[in-house]
Amino acid sequence: MHLSLWYSFTLFVIFAFSLGRSLTNANEEKKVYIVYMGGLPLDPNYSPNAHHLSMLQRVVGSSYIEKSLIRSYNRSFNGFAARLTEREAVKLSRDETVISIFPSKTYHLLTTRSWDFMSFPQNVHRNLNGEGDIIIGMLDSGIWPENPSFNDHGFGPIPTKWKGQCKGGDDFKCNKKIIGARTYNKTSCRDSIGHGSHTASIAAGNIVQNASFYGIAGGVARGGAPSARIAVYKVCSESGCDVEQIMAGFDDAIADGVDILSISFGPSAPLELHEDVVAIGSFHAEEKGILSVQAAGNTRFQVAGITSNAPWLFSVAASTIDRRLYTDIVFGNGTILKGRSINSFKLNGTQFPVVYGAEASSKCDLRDAQICSYGCIDPKLVKGKIILCQSIFAEKTSYIAGAIGFIAPVDFSESYVSPIVSTFLTDEQFEFAESYYSSTKTPTMNMLKTVDQRDLAAPLVAEFSSRGPNSQILDILKPDIIAPGVEILAGYSPYSPPSGVPNYDYGHNEFSYGAGHLNPVKAANPGIVYKTTKEEYHNLLCSMNISSDTATKMSGFNISCDDYQRGFKPKDLNYPSMASPIESGHGKFQVQFKRRATNVGVAMSMYYAKLSCYQSPCNATVAPEKLEFKALNEEIPFVVTVSGENLESVLSASLEWNDGTQVARSPIVVFNPKIMASA
Ligand SMILES: *[C@@H]1O[C@H](CO)[C@@H](O)[C@H](O)[C@H]1NC(C)=O
Ligand SMILES: *[C@@H]1O[C@H](CO)[C@@H](O)[C@H](O)[C@H]1NC(C)=O
Ligand SMILES: *[C@@H]1O[C@H](CO)[C@@H](O)[C@H](O)[C@H]1NC(C)=O
Ligand SMILES: *[C@@H]1O[C@H](CO)[C@@H](O)[C@H](O)[C@H]1NC(C)=O
Ligand SMILES: *[C@@H]1O[C@H](CO)[C@@H](O)[C@H](O)[C@H]1NC(C)=O
Ligand SMILES: *[C@@H]1O[C@H](CO)[C@@H](O)[C@H](O)[C@H]1NC(C)=O
Ligand SMILES: *[C@@H]1O[C@H](CO)[C@@H](O)[C@H](O)[C@H]1NC(C)=O
Ligand SMILES: *[C@@H]1O[C@H](CO)[C@@H](O)[C@H](O)[C@H]1NC(C)=O
Repeated sequence: MHLSLWYSFTLFVIFAFSLGRSLTNANEEKKVYIVYMGGLPLDPNYSPNAHHLSMLQRVVGSSYIEKSLIRSYNRSFNGFAARLTEREAVKLSRDETVISIFPSKTYHLLTTRSWDFMSFPQNVHRNLNGEGDIIIGMLDSGIWPENPSFNDHGFGPIPTKWKGQCKGGDDFKCNKKIIGARTYNKTSCRDSIGHGSHTASIAAGNIVQNASFYGIAGGVARGGAPSARIAVYKVCSESGCDVEQIMAGFDDAIADGVDILSISFGPSAPLELHEDVVAIGSFHAEEKGILSVQAAGNTRFQVAGITSNAPWLFSVAASTIDRRLYTDIVFGNGTILKGRSINSFKLNGTQFPVVYGAEASSKCDLRDAQICSYGCIDPKLVKGKIILCQSIFAEKTSYIAGAIGFIAPVDFSESYVSPIVSTFLTDEQFEFAESYYSSTKTPTMNMLKTVDQRDLAAPLVAEFSSRGPNSQILDILKPDIIAPGVEILAGYSPYSPPSGVPNYDYGHNEFSYGAGHLNPVKAANPGIVYKTTKEEYHNLLCSMNISSDTATKMSGFNISCDDYQRGFKPKDLNYPSMASPIESGHGKFQVQFKRRATNVGVAMSMYYAKLSCYQSPCNATVAPEKLEFKALNEEIPFVVTVSGENLESVLSASLEWNDGTQVARSPIVVFNPKIMASA
C-alpha cells in the first residue's frame, strides 16, 4: 500500500520498542537480531569486525560482546547478527551507521521448476564452453554430492575467476562440478532433506539416463545448464532457512564470484524490502552483476501475497507441466476413482478391507477420530486395512498403526510422495468414498500403481503459487515469469523421501504469471533487452523516499537525493514489464512508461511495435512506433502511453517489438490499488 520508508522504519522501531518497554517493563530476553549497515566503506583501513564489536560494546557492555556477536557480514556488504535484548536493539538502531535492525526469523523452502516442458530438448544447440564458466550459487539445504547429477566426468578445470572454498564438512568432497561448499550451522553441507539436491539438479544437474522415481515418470533427468558449476551454500535445514544464515550465504556467494544465485525459499508473508534479507542480499548481488532468481512464493490466492518483490530480483512463479500423476482406486463394486499421489510401492492383491477413521478409534471424540489424530486410531482396528481419514496429516500415524493404505481428501488436486500406499481425493471424491463405505456391508478397495498422463491443459498457474500485485513497490510487476513447479522429477538425497504440496488451477492474469511462460531457447536470443544502470537504481532508491544518507550507505556510492532525476518514479525503471497503480475511480487517467531498448540481435535491424489492450476503454500508444538500430548495443528510448477511464480494477495490455524473427513482449498492467484492500 505504501513505498518503503527506510528511515521512518527506524523511527517506527524506536517507537514500537519504547511502547513495548513501557507496557512490559523491559523485556530482557535476548533474541537474535540482524543489523544491516549497507555497502562496505571503501576505506582500506576500515575493519568491519572491529566496528561491529565497538558498536556492540556501547550497548551491551564489554564483558558480553564476544558472546553477543554471532557473525559479521564483511565480504560483500556490511552488517552483523547479534544476540540482543529489545532495549539493546533500540539503542543500536540509533547508531547512525545502521540502516535497519530486525529480529531473525525463519524462511520457508519453496518448490521449483523443470525444463523439458519449456521446449528445451536435450539436443538444443548450446554453447557448452560458455556454460562451463557459469557458476550457480545454490542457497539451499545443501546437496548430495554422490548423486550422479553432480559427478564431474568430462568437466574442464575450475574457472579461474572462482574465489570460493570447499568447506562442506569432513564427509563432503567437492569436484569439478560442485566447486564450492559452505555451511553456516556447524553441520555438513550434505543435504538431509532433499530440497537442495532437487533444486541444484534442476538448475545444473548432469544428464542422467534412465532416471525415474521407482519406475514412474521414467525418462532422462537433467538440469537447465548441465555444464554449469555449482557452489553450495547451506542456509536451510529441516527447520527452514534461518535469516542470519541466509545473510551469511549472500555475503560469501557474492564475494566468491558466483554468476547466478538460486533462492527457493521466502518469508511466509511479504516483508518490507529493508527487512527482507533476500531483498537486501540480492541488492548487493545485482550491484556486482549477479542475477538472483527467487521462487515467487507459495501463498496461493492471497491478493498481493507474493513474497519476492524487489526489482533487482528475478521472481519466478510456478506453473504446471504437461505430466500428471494418477493413482486409481478400485472399489469393491467396480467403481474406479482417479486419485492423485506418487506411490513407490503397490498393494499385493486385488481387494482389501476398508476402515473409516471415525470407526477406528475407541477412545477419541468423533472429530479427532475422523481426522485420525495422533493416538486416536486403534492398531487392532486398522491393521492390514486401507484407512479413510479426513486429514492428509494422518499418514504417518496410520502407517505406524499398521494400515496398509491411506486415503484422504485435499481441497485441491495434488500429488504427494508418501511413506505408505496413499491416494488423495478431491472433497467430492472423498464424499463418494464415504458414501460407498457407509452404504456397503463389507467395503473393500484396491489402489493401483501410479501412472503418468499428459496434461493437455498445461501450462496453468500452479494453485499454490503466489500472486501480485507487488505490495512493496506497486509499480514493479511481480512475478516476472512463470516456469514449471509441479511434479518435478530431479535428484533427491537418499535421506529424505520427496514430498510436497503441488497443484494447479485456472486463475489467470499478469499478477499470477508476469510476462508469461519461460522459453529458455528464445530467452537466450531475445533480440532486444532492457538494461538498467546504477544511476537508475539510485533514482529508484531516492524515489522510494529513502534519505540521501540511507541511499548512500546502501549503495556505497555518494548519492544525493536532492539532485536525483526529479519526477523519477519506480514505474520509470527500465524494467521489461510495465505496471502502475492509478487511483482514478470514475475519472479519466493517462499513464506514461519511459523505456530504452538495447539491440543485442543483428546490428542493422528494424523492430515494429504492436500494442494490444485486453479490455476497454483503453487506448495504448507507443512513440516511436519503430526502432531502427544501426549497431549492436545501440540503445533507443521510447514512451508507452496508456489512457482510459473508470478504472475499477485491472487493465492489462501488452507491447511487442517484432523484427520478423524475434519478438520481445512486455506485459503492461494498470490497476486500481483498491483491489489490494482485501489483502
Ligand atoms: C569477517 O567476519 C568473520 C565472521 O564473523 C570474522 O571471522 C572475520 O574476522 C571478519 N573479518 C573482518 C576483516 O572483519
Ligand atoms: C542446524 O542444523 C540442525 C541439523 O540439521 C537443525 O536441526 C537445526 O534446526 C539447525 N539450526 C538452525 C538455526 O538452522
Ligand atoms: C534403461 O533401462 C532399460 C530398462 O530397464 C534398460 O534396458 C536400459 O539398458 C537402460 N539404459 C541405460 C543407459 O542404463
Ligand atoms: C508386497 O510384496 C513384496 C514382495 O513379496 C513385499 O516386499 C512388499 O512388502 C509387499 N507389500 C505389501 C504392501 O504387502
Ligand atoms: C458403488 O457404490 C457407490 C456408493 O454406494 C455407488 O454410488 C456406485 O454407483 C456403485 N458403483 C457401481 C458400479 O455399482
Ligand atoms: C514521500 O515523501 C514525501 C515528502 O515527505 C511525501 O509527500 C510523499 O507522500 C511520500 N511518498 C510516499 C509514497 O510515501
Ligand atoms: C559526497 O558528496 C558531497 C558533495 O558532492 C561531498 O561534500 C562529500 O565529501 C562526498 N562524500 C564522500 C564520502 O565522497
Ligand atoms: C490515444 O492516445 C493518444 C495519445 O497518447 C491520442 O493522441 C489519441 O487521440 C488517443 N486515441 C483515442 C482513440 O482516444
